Amino acid sequence: MDNSKIKRYTVTAALPYTNGPVHIGHLAGVYLPADTYVRYLRSNKRDVKFICGSDENGVPITLKAKKEGVTPQVIVDKYHKIIGDSFKEFGVSFDIYHRTSSLMHHQTASDFFENLYKKGVFTEEITEQYYDEKAQTFLADRYITGTCPKCGNENAYGDQCENCGSTLNATDLINPKSTLSGEPPVRKETKNWFLPLDKYEDRLRKYIDSHKEWKPNVFGQCQSWLNAGLQPRAMTRDLDWGVKVPVKDAEGKVLYVWFDAPIGYISATKELFEYARLDVWNPKAEEFYINQNGLEKESWEDYWKDEETKLVHFIGKDNIVFHCIIFPAMLMAHGDYILADNVPANEFLNLEGNKISTSKNWAVWLNEYLVEFKDKQDVLRYVLTATAPETKDNDFTWKDFQARNNNELVAVLGNFINRVVVLTHKYFNGKVPMCMEILPEDQQVIDELAAYPAKISASIENYRFREALGEVMNVARLGNKYLAETEPWKVIKTDEDRVRTILNISLQIAANIEILIEPFLPFTADKLMKMLNYGGHLWEDAGKVNLLHRGHQLNDPVLLFEKIEDEEVQAQIDKLNKSKADNTAASATVEPAKENIQFDQFTAIDIRVATIIAAEKVEKTKKLLKLTLDTGIDQRTVVSGIAEYYKPEDIIGQQVSLIVNLAPREIKGILSQGMILMSENAEGKLAFVAPTQSHNNGSTIR
Ligand code: MF3
Ligand code: ZN
Repeated sequence: MDNSKIKRYTVTAALPYTNGPVHIGHLAGVYLPADTYVRYLRSNKRDVKFICGSDENGVPITLKAKKEGVTPQVIVDKYHKIIGDSFKEFGVSFDIYHRTSSLMHHQTASDFFENLYKKGVFTEEITEQYYDEKAQTFLADRYITGTCPKCGNENAYGDQCENCGSTLNATDLINPKSTLSGEPPVRKETKNWFLPLDKYEDRLRKYIDSHKEWKPNVFGQCQSWLNAGLQPRAMTRDLDWGVKVPVKDAEGKVLYVWFDAPIGYISATKELFEYARLDVWNPKAEEFYINQNGLEKESWEDYWKDEETKLVHFIGKDNIVFHCIIFPAMLMAHGDYILADNVPANEFLNLEGNKISTSKNWAVWLNEYLVEFKDKQDVLRYVLTATAPETKDNDFTWKDFQARNNNELVAVLGNFINRVVVLTHKYFNGKVPMCMEILPEDQQVIDELAAYPAKISASIENYRFREALGEVMNVARLGNKYLAETEPWKVIKTDEDRVRTILNISLQIAANIEILIEPFLPFTADKLMKMLNYGGHLWEDAGKVNLLHRGHQLNDPVLLFEKIEDEEVQAQIDKLNKSKADNTAASATVEPAKENIQFDQFTAIDIRVATIIAAEKVEKTKKLLKLTLDTGIDQRTVVSGIAEYYKPEDIIGQQVSLIVNLAPREIKGILSQGMILMSENAEGKLAFVAPTQSHNNGSTIR
């Protein structure tokens, strides 16, 4: 969108699910870039509303509630508070932090559905869904577990196998079981309302194609969805938690969470205007932090229906299809709304080399960080922006966190500011000295400084926050270099006027840093503002060298950053290692016993002692060994999946237990005659099962 046509901005950040706190992956991927962007816009005096809230519907929340034996409402109340409070403390400057369990949201989402329903947008389809007869309820995919058809994991979920990562349909599972009753579910017909995405394909393609400027990861994902061809998608679900479907015959059905959640952006904007503008006390308002500036002049509709509004969605990459395909299709179907101008989705942040996982507690939780690193919001903001996964997945490590704090924030930024302020106090009683004669080396610094704001703006406006922050740090580097080269602490002995000029220019650089760093590190900017006794953060002032006038009194220096010691980061690493150990212990649970069998079923299995007399790897496989066994009856070939644990040369002569009457099977083109018994522990390690003293080959085992 052409900047001159933009009258206002609606900036949204993905509504976090309230089934757990927010972690660094969410911050780096969504909330920090969004907050930086919005702060930058405000500093440019642009009219912007920054919208977010809790995503409180959907199956994961009902599952979490079930697990903890409470109602979903208890869960969403708990996490809405935790998440909202930590965002606030972390300086994420939403205009409103709303929630989708609110009345306003239920009404807005319900009306939206009804509007499309009346237009005849939806198709009704009857499909077979799993149903739990004992619990008398349809089962969402997540409520069903069974054996993964791809890898054999017996605890795969109906939508996904966490062992092999495959996306599944509940109907793919072998031996499906309801997690509610433990019973096998039955298939039952049910009616739901579908959004025929296929009918919007052409318009969506046109929309996406008109946004070649989008980040390649986002644009590419959209193209591949479109190229694969869009299918109608159910917008209602058989579930009892969420926004009720506002049509007849929809008992026991709610709106699909991905239908109602993005409407949450709209309902939050409405809430912001309806309540905050009138200054009516809303019982829930305590839970919001609301910026009430300028609400009287406009209405929520200006932010959603006016072509001069620029709508930007900040999301993580797993949300792309919902924001770039499904939500736009909904908005097109409705007809009154503008579409997003950009959807700057980030990739994922990993932690110490592993995928962040809520269930494995492999994460750095924002609420815990805020307690353990009190008043160090900006350190995390800095590190997460400097390493943000903007174009590819990236890794957060505690060592890097420490290094960036100590070598960049302390040594570069903190050091520059501290030196300038301390020297000004020392030589001029904390009063900004007058700029005397400007030498060529001064002019060069002044010119360099003047070029930064435009560069930084361009990076921010193109959603390259890492690059932008790097440039802000370069301004501090410029300041340090200037001090190192001009050496005011030496010159003071001979030429006080020269020092006046040097410190005046250095102080102007410091004031510039205050403006330029505010979108990224607002707490630091505030401290700097106080220290410099400077009104601050208006972007139009950046680049200038007349921000602090001669004679202006500075306040006492305070340290902006402090060194982080080895012990502090080691404690964090230990904490992570403990979660890892806890997980291993938890997963070391014993498999439940199988159903009883009859004695003759057991004796039907002919198990014998045998000895491995030859072994070699099966080519092009990782796990398989081809073994030759002396069974006492014959010599035969068996293919066994033990190559990851045993080298061929180490097992010659090993006695084993062999099922000799298992029907032969061909494995990788080799006829395998029998199966060697192995014991397998919780980590999947294998060990032979053999008589504890040597027995003749062919001895029976029973
Ligand atoms: N709750 C979703 C997630 O965490 C994001 C929802 S974004 C919204 O992945 F637009 F749909 F609200
Ligand atoms: Zn699997």
